[in-house]
Amino acid sequence: MSKKELISLLLYDVALEHSAIVQYLYHIFLITDANITSEIEEIARQEMRHLKWFAQKVVQLGGEVVLDRLEDMIMVGGPDWADMLSKDVLAEEMAIEIYTKQLEIVKDDSVKRLLERVIKDENTHRFEFSELRDKVKEGMICYQEERQKVDPKTLEVLNKFLQEEYASIIKYLYQFFHSKDINHRDVMLDVAIESMVHMGKIGEKIGELGGMPNMKTDFSPIKYKSMQESLKEDIAFEQQAMGEYEKDIKSSADPEIKRLFEFIEHQEEYHRHMLLELFKKMRKLTVGDLRKSKND
Ligand SMILES: [Fe+2]
Ligand SMILES: [Fe+2]
Ligand SMILES: [Fe+2]
Ligand SMILES: [Fe+2]
Repeated sequence: MSKKELISLLLYDVALEHSAIVQYLYHIFLITDANITSEIEEIARQEMRHLKWFAQKVVQLGGEVVLDRLEDMIMVGGPDWADMLSKDVLAEEMAIEIYTKQLEIVKDDSVKRLLERVIKDENTHRFEFSELRDKVKEGMICYQEERQKVDPKTLEVLNKFLQEEYASIIKYLYQFFHSKDINHRDVMLDVAIESMVHMGKIGEKIGELGGMPNMKTDFSPIKYKSMQESLKEDIAFEQQAMGEYEKDIKSSADPEIKRLFEFIEHQEEYHRHMLLELFKKMRKLTVGDLRKSKND
């Protein structure tokens, strides 16, 4: 297996983990029992680590991380929770099958070790999901049929923000994987994680209101930019997000949504501040370096 082939195998795994995360998020948003969702959340967090480890291997091998997903692998179940959890069991089974096959053809020792580790995790997940499914089936956890009627306009606004947060996670993770500057990487990871929190809270709100979250997004491929250039874009992006949340705080009639948007808007403001500070610090360094080299 050539290095190029190994990179594309790892990129497939990144996409597979990404797809599992999206599927589990849908179910976290749609299931309203906290006992179930907290367990799925824990599994989803583990898939995020898997994604990160596969992506880091790609970078180590000199490849470029693409944060694609495999649409056919995203199986959103429902409306009953047992069906959703059955699809999650299936996702784990497919992952185990794929990774086991890869293990037979991969020669690279450290990738082999990683695959072995991930297969073990997926086996645990498969077991946990089937346990949850059985509990729901046996009626130990009650599935609530009746749901609130959400007005379509509110749902549209929530889904717009859900997609924007999703897109920002992808963007910040991409930069986290590719940046060589330790301070930049640190800020990128922070804002990616907080965007995940924002997306999670918005998605849960949609589910609570009885709506259907929409996690489709057009993945315009992200191109690598210089740190300075990407920071400039990110600052403008956070500024815009602040404005959009602010606008909807004013127009929202639901006090809970208002409070949620206020919470998020405040964090976007801080993101902008963090990015701006980094940008200034970096400019100072560049100017300083130039002066120094002139005097040399
Ligand atoms: Fe995984
Ligand atoms: Fe898993
Ligand atoms: Fe956000
Ligand atoms: Fe933000």
